[in-house]
Amino acid sequence: MRILLIIGGGIAAYKASELVRLIRREGGSVTCVLTEAGAHFVTPLTLAALSENAVHTTLWDLKNEVEMGHIQLSREADLVVVCPATADLMARMAAGIANDLATTLLLATDKPVLAAPAMNVRMWQHAATQANLATLRARGITVMDPDEGVMACGEFGPGRLPEPEAILAAIRAQLAPLPRPLTGRHVLITAGPTHEPIDPVRYIANRSSGRQGFALAAAAAQAGARVTLVAGPVSLPTPAGVDRIDVETAREMAAAVEAALPCDVAIMVAAVADWRAAEAAGQKRKKDGSGQIAPLQLVENPDILAGLGASAARPRLLIGFAAETEQVIPHAKAKLARKGADWIIANDVSGDVMGGTANTVHIVSASGVESLPRMDKADVAHAIMTKVADAFR
Ligand code: CTP
Repeated sequence: MRILLIIGGGIAAYKASELVRLIRREGGSVTCVLTEAGAHFVTPLTLAALSENAVHTTLWDLKNEVEMGHIQLSREADLVVVCPATADLMARMAAGIANDLATTLLLATDKPVLAAPAMNVRMWQHAATQANLATLRARGITVMDPDEGVMACGEFGPGRLPEPEAILAAIRAQLAPLPRPLTGRHVLITAGPTHEPIDPVRYIANRSSGRQGFALAAAAAQAGARVTLVAGPVSLPTPAGVDRIDVETAREMAAAVEAALPCDVAIMVAAVADWRAAEAAGQKRKKDGSGQIAPLQLVENPDILAGLGASAARPRLLIGFAAETEQVIPHAKAKLARKGADWIIANDVSGDVMGGTANTVHIVSASGVESLPRMDKADVAHAIMTKVADAFR
């Protein structure tokens, strides 16, 4: 294993030396890149001695630039490891800032990246850091969960660097060839809400965040599938390796799905608006002072899932979602039959599911109901994709 190790500036940086030692003991090679802040906590000399390799600290090293250029550093690695990933490094990674050697390499690399965070508990829990974490994970970067415990600053909570042995285990897992059971399959996914215009400034919408559909697209790509993601209006980053088509209305979504066929698996996660205005007004609808407003005429939107269920191009595996607030399983069973799907994945959205990060789902099919425990939406996606892969085995 050839590791490019980027060391950020935090008290946990000293543990990076232990990680270097462990990787060397496994027979791996390590090239260290120290940020300016990192160099306050661990010296280049220590890292050079442990790694038996030159240590890089600056973009502006004339000798290095002449010999190979800084981008070369990541070309020669199998994996880039950021340890410790400080709040500042995570923020710069998430924003795509390249203002030193470490962040330039992180922006330029095409290698997988593993980050081991370490920071003060409040910095870890800050909304900014949590948003950066979500962005990095959505982009396919593996960010380990920090350990919980007493911190160097005396506070208690999550934020401690995972133990070097745990980081080594994560490195091994990253470098093990991933099972890609859906290689050669085309997976088509819809996600998010649709917006149905009423007039140029108003629309009908719903609370769908798109998170579950995007997580499924990421999981399908990781399983080796070619993935087409037809997304309603949401502001989520596109998962790595996914072809994304942005749409606004149910009719645009239906057309994009049609154009993306054929596929082996279709997973319709979108919360498609059932109704649209019969005629969207060309100008903004105005009050006339009477206290009355002309009723809004609604017509039904095409049912994309049912359309696929009845189509000549029906995929081998057709999966729908059912967001319910009561009688979750009976409603899901009815939808299974009505829409001609193979599975309906039902969830109870009466709580914090819509817009939240966790989900409890029940997979309803002709062979019965399988309930999964409440999990993060990314874990739900992986569990579903494992079942999809089994169905093709
Ligand atoms: N769906 C679709 N096109 C629509 C409506 C729904 O493709 N116009 C899909 C959704 O993506 C989901 C499934 O059908 O996979 C069930 O959606 P849901 O809104 O729960 O079902 P409805 O048919 O709208 O039923 P109801 O409003 O009675 O709950």
